Amino acid sequence: MSAPAEAGGSPTPRLVVMASGRGSNFQALLDAIEAGRLRATIGALISDQPEALALERARDAGVPTHAFDYRAIADREAFYAQVEACIDREQPQLIVLAGYMRILPEAFVRKYRWRIVNIHPSLLPAFPGLHAQRQALEYGVRIAGCTVHLVDEGVDSGPIVEQAAVPVYDDDTEERLAARILEEEHRIFPDSIERLLHTRYEIVGRRVRFLSASLRKD
Ligand code: GRF
Repeated sequence: MSAPAEAGGSPTPRLVVMASGRGSNFQALLDAIEAGRLRATIGALISDQPEALALERARDAGVPTHAFDYRAIADREAFYAQVEACIDREQPQLIVLAGYMRILPEAFVRKYRWRIVNIHPSLLPAFPGLHAQRQALEYGVRIAGCTVHLVDEGVDSGPIVEQAAVPVYDDDTEERLAARILEEEHRIFPDSIERLLHTRYEIVGRRVRFLSASLRKD
């Protein structure tokens, strides 16, 4: 499979971002767009948490927001029907999970096959799921990091786009390690999305193979 390459003169590709919390990765995307490092437009920010800080960041940046209160909506199907309606209106090239803390329904993943990208704070396949930084510390690894991956039906199990490693120090706390990893997240997430949007690639088995250098001219 391969993603369409953006030829010169094509419209700026659109993203829809989904976030549940503080939204620092979402902010990193906004900053990268502002700086010209990420050539994309964010059409909407969707959250399952009406009080998420990410929503405030979106409002500040003039990005349309859609807060669907997961707990107030009768069932998962009804919730995702609303999310899908919003995504389908926007027609994004990629759906970006920036700290979206729910497991997506299989039908949703299938519908947007290989168009959903996630950031996870571990070097996958180690430590999927919640509290990845705590899992890494408790396991005693010396190298931790983060992974950008395309989303499949499993938990943090899809094809890997990019990874970055950080050291783990003897006196690390979960917070210190998480902060060190987060710095790398903020670097590789926008860069990976830029690459996915503007570089031809194919997915062979579990591997994402980029076929050419970025088409970026500058
Ligand atoms: C990040 O550590 C990300 O890797 C994980 O959830 C956290 C979200 O942080 N998926 P933020 O909301 O982007 O600040």
